[in-house]
Amino acid sequence: MPESVHSLLHSESVRDAVTVAGWVRTRRDSKEFSFIEVNDGSCLANLQILVEAACQDYGIVGTVHTGAAIRVEGELVASPGKGQRWEVRARRLQLVGPAPEDFPLQKKRHTDEFLRTIAHLRPRTNKYGAMFRIRARLAHAVHEFFHQRGFYWIHTPIITGADCEGAGEMFRVTTLDLDNIPKVNGAVDFSQDFFGKEANLTVSGQLSVETCCLALGKVYTFGPTFRSENSNTSRHMAEFWMIEPEIAFADLRDDMALGEELVRHLVRFVQQECAEDLDLFARFVDKDLPARLENIASHEFIRLSYTETVELLQKSGRKFEFPPAWGHDLQSEHERFLTEDHFKQPVIVYDYPREMKAFYMRQNDDGRTVAAMDILVPAIGELIGGSQREERYDHLERRIAELGFDLADYWWYLDTRKYGTVPHAGFGLGFERLLMLVTGVGNIRDVIPFPRTPKHLEF
Ligand code: 4AD
Ligand code: MG
Repeated sequence: MPESVHSLLHSESVRDAVTVAGWVRTRRDSKEFSFIEVNDGSCLANLQILVEAACQDYGIVGTVHTGAAIRVEGELVASPGKGQRWEVRARRLQLVGPAPEDFPLQKKRHTDEFLRTIAHLRPRTNKYGAMFRIRARLAHAVHEFFHQRGFYWIHTPIITGADCEGAGEMFRVTTLDLDNIPKVNGAVDFSQDFFGKEANLTVSGQLSVETCCLALGKVYTFGPTFRSENSNTSRHMAEFWMIEPEIAFADLRDDMALGEELVRHLVRFVQQECAEDLDLFARFVDKDLPARLENIASHEFIRLSYTETVELLQKSGRKFEFPPAWGHDLQSEHERFLTEDHFKQPVIVYDYPREMKAFYMRQNDDGRTVAAMDILVPAIGELIGGSQREERYDHLERRIAELGFDLADYWWYLDTRKYGTVPHAGFGLGFERLLMLVTGVGNIRDVIPFPRTPKHLEF
């Protein structure tokens, strides 16, 4: 096996015999030798390969184009060139996988729009390589965060019979023959479908993870989530990853504290552990990124009730396209005003009008709000949505009925309130929105390897 470019670049000393393999970024020729920049994905930096005329494979250098895969054996020597400490002087050069000269990623910088059309090749650019390394490390850091705090990772189902958010934005899962759909009394006969009932892709693992929370105490899910909402925005996708912790014997305050701790911890993690990749985003994507991340990591978040938030917006003197009004959703212009202009840092808005929120949220004593909270962050808006759950059987049953849902569909959920119910709370953090926050990338399609959005399913 070849050694990684990352480990070679961090070598303590010269080495007599090393092997490295990767993809060619550029090649520069002069009369007596060629320089090949090779990248193997282990880090942002390339390793420079010197192929001299005396090398026995010098003859193939002319066929080594940008994009080709090569394998090199040689010695690691101090590099006389600027910007790198080590380079490899090749003894052997092998073309593992050639690339013709029409390889689409030549040296010039490409637009994100163009790169989206070649999602199969964009990981080979500096920017997307850096993005997917950060993504992988951040996912690991999420698990580490919870593990260190005694949480158990629960694998909640992707195929589900429940609509957690009650918003009806679900993708159906079926094996029925769409050209010949079985019907009874004019309606689709789902008893003939694979599960014998309607099935969908999950919009949230929350309801399932709650059942484990009420047994294991501190739990979370982290997996793909699906929503068929037809919003073609820079912050929504049909398939995204969500982190959903759930804590027993806990209220909304505990929930807000956990959300804040998680976000600040992960921002710190990226600053410290992904510095080389992060620097690319600070230089080429968002100049304000380092200051914004430091601000998030080092300050407490603002906490404001929904009612106070609406009052603040109304008194702000700002002309909004949608005038803020109690009972209406906060618009992104409102969120931006709060996080970017007024407080200039993340804001946790809590106690929302009950009509705006999902059935499972705990009703407050005022009779018109629920113990919900959203964490809003600069440049993105809503990063986290969560709540204390309605743990009182009668309240929950009444709310489900009020909203016209079928109680029979929720028998198991209600059961958890019948047997040993306890106050508990949780939230969902959109992993892609977190990646947007930590990299400054403005379009959610560019923080996931294969984005799924309305009318777009290329691979
Ligand atoms: O606010 P949401 O809808 O909350 C829930 O699903 C709860 N069941 C979570 C819980 O309490 N366990 O979604 C949570 C977060 C949002 O704040 C947002 O960051 C992200 O998920 N999100 C999306 N991200 C990308 N594309 C979409 N279509 C998203 N919808 C929600
Ligand atoms: Mg939400």
